[in-house]
Amino acid sequence: MKDTLNRIKEEALSIIASPDTDDAALEALRIKYLGKKGELTAVLRGMGQLSPEERPIVGQMANEVRAEIESALTEKKTALAASALDAQLLSEKLDVTVPGKKEKVGHRHPLTLVQRDMEEIFIGMGFSIAEGPEVEYDYYNFQALNIPENHPARDTQDTFYITDKILLRSQTSPVQARVMEAQKPPIRIISPGRVYRSDAMDATHSPLFHQMEGLVVDKGITMGDLKGMLETFAKTEFGEDTRIRFRPHHFPFTEPSAEVDISCFMCGGKGCRLCKGEGWIEILGAGMVHPNVLRNCGIDPEEYSGFAFGMGVERIAMLKYHIDDIRHFYENDVRFIEQF
Ligand code: PHE
Repeated sequence: MKDTLNRIKEEALSIIASPDTDDAALEALRIKYLGKKGELTAVLRGMGQLSPEERPIVGQMANEVRAEIESALTEKKTALAASALDAQLLSEKLDVTVPGKKEKVGHRHPLTLVQRDMEEIFIGMGFSIAEGPEVEYDYYNFQALNIPENHPARDTQDTFYITDKILLRSQTSPVQARVMEAQKPPIRIISPGRVYRSDAMDATHSPLFHQMEGLVVDKGITMGDLKGMLETFAKTEFGEDTRIRFRPHHFPFTEPSAEVDISCFMCGGKGCRLCKGEGWIEILGAGMVHPNVLRNCGIDPEEYSGFAFGMGVERIAMLKYHIDDIRHFYENDVRFIEQF
C-alpha cells in the first residue's frame, strides 16, 4: 500500500508540474486520484485489511499524500490564472506613445469662402438672406423684370430652356421679384446662388457661375443709399482705401442703372496688370428698381422706391485671390483647392 501511495504521489505531482497541464487536465487529475472513485480514496477504503499497527502509519501517509497533491493543485491553478492574466494584458497592451493617425480635414472651397465673407458684410448692414430656385420661370427671370419676350436684353443672357416657360435662371435678379411678391417693404435682402448662361467655357466665362443679388425697398430710398452701402461693402471686402465709381449703364429692371467699379487695390489706381492699366475694376451692376418692376410685384412706386445690385462671386474671388482662370474653381484639383 505504501508503494501504491508513493506511485500515486509521484504520478500526480509530475503531471501537475508538467508545463502542458491546463485547467481541464488538473480537474481530470483531481477526479482520478482524489475523487470519490479515485485511486487514493480506494487505498483509504482498503485500509480495513491492514493490521492495527500498520493502519495509523498508512493512514497518516495517505493523508500526507492527499495534502501534498491538494496543495500542488492549488499552487498550479494560481500559477495558471496568473499567466492567463499576463497573456491577456499583453495582448490588450496599449502603447500611448505611438503617434496618432492624422485625420484628413477638409475645408471650404474658395468660392464658399468668398460668398460667406460677402454674406457677413451684408448681414452686418442689416440684410437677410433670401433664396430662389435655379430652375425658374421665364416670368421671374425676364418678364417680371421688365424684359418682355423678344426684348434684345434676352440675347445677352441666353440660357438653357427646359420648356418655353421654364429655364435655368440666368441671373439672381428673379429673386428680387419673388421677394417683392411675397413680402412688403421694408425689404433688405441679399440672395447668393448659382446662375446659368449658354456661354462657352473660357478663362473668364462659365455656363454655370454664382451671383449675389441685393435688394432694398422702402420709403425714400435713393441712389445715395445705394452708393453709401456699396462703398461700405467695397472698403470691407477690398480694404479701407478702396474707392468706388459709378458708370452709366442700362439694365431693363433698374432706372437709372450703373456699372460699378472699385479703385484697383493692387496699384491704388495708378494702373497695373490686374486692372489692365485702367486703375479701376468693374465689380457689379446696380441701379434704382424700375417702377415697372415694383408695379409688377404689387408695390406702389409712388409710395416706395428701392435699389438693387448684382455681382459675380467668381469675379470677386478671382480679384481677391489673384486667380487668372475661372475654370480652376470647378476642376476640383486639390493642388489648387488646398491653397485657400
Ligand atoms: N442681373 C444683372 C446681371 O446679371 C446685374 C444687376 C442686378 C443689375 C441688379 C442691376 C441690378 O447682369
